[in-house]
Amino acid sequence: MAEDVYKADAEFVSRAHVQGMDCYRALYRRAEEHPEEFWGELAEKELFWFDKWSHVFEWNPPFAKWFVDGKTNVSYNCLDRHLATPRKNKVAILWEGEPGDQRMISYQELHRLVCRFASVLMDRGLKAGDRAIIYMPMIPELPVAMLACARLGIIHSVVFGGFSAEALKTRIQDLEAQVVITADGGWRRGREIPLKKAVDEALAECPTVKDVIVYRRTGTPVEMKEGRDLWWHELDQNATEVCPAVPLDSEHPLYVLYTSGTTGKPKGIVHSTAGYLLQTLMTMKWVFDLREEDTYWCTADIGWVTGHSYIVYGPLAAGATTIMYEGAPDYPAPDRFWRIVEKYRVNIFYTSPTAIRSFIRQGDQWPNGHDLSSLRLLGSVGEPINPAAWEWYYKVIGKERCPIVDTWWQTETGAILISAMPGAVPQKPGSATLPLPGIVPDVVDMSGKPVKPGQEGFLIIRRPWPSMLRTLWGDPRRYEDQYWRRIPGVYLAGDAARRDEDGYFWILGRVDDVMNVSGHRLSTMELESALVRHPSVAEAAVVAKPHEVTGQAVVAFVTLKSGRWDHNSLAQDLRQWVAHEIGGFAKPEQIRFTESLPKTRSGKIMRRLLREIVTTQTVTGDVTTLEDLTVVTRLAAQHDEG
Ligand code: WTA
Repeated sequence: MAEDVYKADAEFVSRAHVQGMDCYRALYRRAEEHPEEFWGELAEKELFWFDKWSHVFEWNPPFAKWFVDGKTNVSYNCLDRHLATPRKNKVAILWEGEPGDQRMISYQELHRLVCRFASVLMDRGLKAGDRAIIYMPMIPELPVAMLACARLGIIHSVVFGGFSAEALKTRIQDLEAQVVITADGGWRRGREIPLKKAVDEALAECPTVKDVIVYRRTGTPVEMKEGRDLWWHELDQNATEVCPAVPLDSEHPLYVLYTSGTTGKPKGIVHSTAGYLLQTLMTMKWVFDLREEDTYWCTADIGWVTGHSYIVYGPLAAGATTIMYEGAPDYPAPDRFWRIVEKYRVNIFYTSPTAIRSFIRQGDQWPNGHDLSSLRLLGSVGEPINPAAWEWYYKVIGKERCPIVDTWWQTETGAILISAMPGAVPQKPGSATLPLPGIVPDVVDMSGKPVKPGQEGFLIIRRPWPSMLRTLWGDPRRYEDQYWRRIPGVYLAGDAARRDEDGYFWILGRVDDVMNVSGHRLSTMELESALVRHPSVAEAAVVAKPHEVTGQAVVAFVTLKSGRWDHNSLAQDLRQWVAHEIGGFAKPEQIRFTESLPKTRSGKIMRRLLREIVTTQTVTGDVTTLEDLTVVTRLAAQHDEG
């Protein structure tokens, strides 16, 4: 093949968990031929069990159960079991706040904090099966809250701090949560994100919530509602440090994480206990090649799945030192990340292509001003990484010493499914490379038939895996329709992909109405429904356009209700409106006003044409003046006739 191939050096390979292609192939083959033995042995060896399972796996398509009848606890596996080992005083969470404050929390200390908070939750009458919404900044109390919930079997749902009150409300309502755990605020780019204020706004219409627990982070005065709002530090005064982990069924839901789908309503992805834990733990070893002495940093926000699996559950289950940073990558200067790498001697660094592309734009002087020699492995996640960004990452950050793992996975998959094992699988810039053991992906056409090497098709997974989503919260029908029906019997990922002659996977991006902006999933329908809720908007059509840094950017075509509108100020209003309805990160880059939208005769908006317009600029128009799409509309009509 013409493309460049990169291999880890001999020193890296000699110490890797999986050494060389033969080793990878043997593991893969064993998992493929004897999946039950393969996963059963790992579960036995790698996890603590209160009661062992009766069988490894049950598959009533599309519903899977793993480690059936087993009893375990995620919090126990992430904390208690390390206390009898030399990890007891090892740093579990190494935290840096945006203003520069620091905390180093050992496993022993983290265990203490989690037990105290779990005892608080218990005192409030919360128990296994209840639901907690966690809406917090990136501070250690966020994982403490997650692990405390996990300890008692309270199903948690973390809502990213960038989501608005409106988005928070819909999640609280869908989950029928009893408790909301939040903070007064958090720091981002030197400004305070007023989280408690958003909670107050959201709770006006959430009758199920009885308690709001507020952690004091910024110290800004907030309103505390009598009989509902409680300070974390006050509750903590009566907390006890003895709060045993509850033995929970392997299949007990650990958390629900909402993600954008193809409708206006976000989907509540439900993850399990044992299968999820095992696979996040195994991928820490297989993909990040974790060693006891490593300092590991995943730069994601815990509000997204990457933070759940690779800041909290995977690393802590593996006994790692995991770094958590509260703020923005460019605050107070564009070298903040490299400062952190240098200061804590980070060995493994995991970030997104958007972040890498913005570093490229800011200039090499920022990383070059720091000692990055501690790094030994780099990772990428969230979007396809273009080869140019890959090579920059390899040279400027990794100094041509560090393998790069391009990890493909989704909120739904729970853990990384396609990625190089760095000591075994040679890397090709832009390819996620090969599937991990136990994962059987393919690229197929609409009828489910595998396409030839080099051809584009739909990415599917043929067999269930331990960390896969179990269902959608409250909507098993949608789970089935969305993932298992369109191509019957296989898991449809919603990504286009191709496979080359070496069997390497190249992920090309979403094929459904989901966009990927800075590695954040946004739904076309969700954005459109937000826009049409604005009093001026008659109709809206949202498409993605390629963007140099963020991968994709949101462009909204909008038709207005009759009236006189100042397009310039209205465009600003609408962007603000989207921030209010969803969150600041979802703001359209462009609002384009038009008289009409191209539609089929049955009235469906032809987004494909709009997508063409924004990518090829065939119809040009000043961003903020009225655009004449009648040409396209006529064109669309012709398409439709033909
Ligand atoms: C995309 C993030 C190419 C993909 C973990 C997927 C990627 C969606 C990669 C899931 C990658 C993630 N290469 N594309 N290495 N990783 N994606 O649910 O389109 O936020 O379907 O999970 O991100 O996004 P999600």
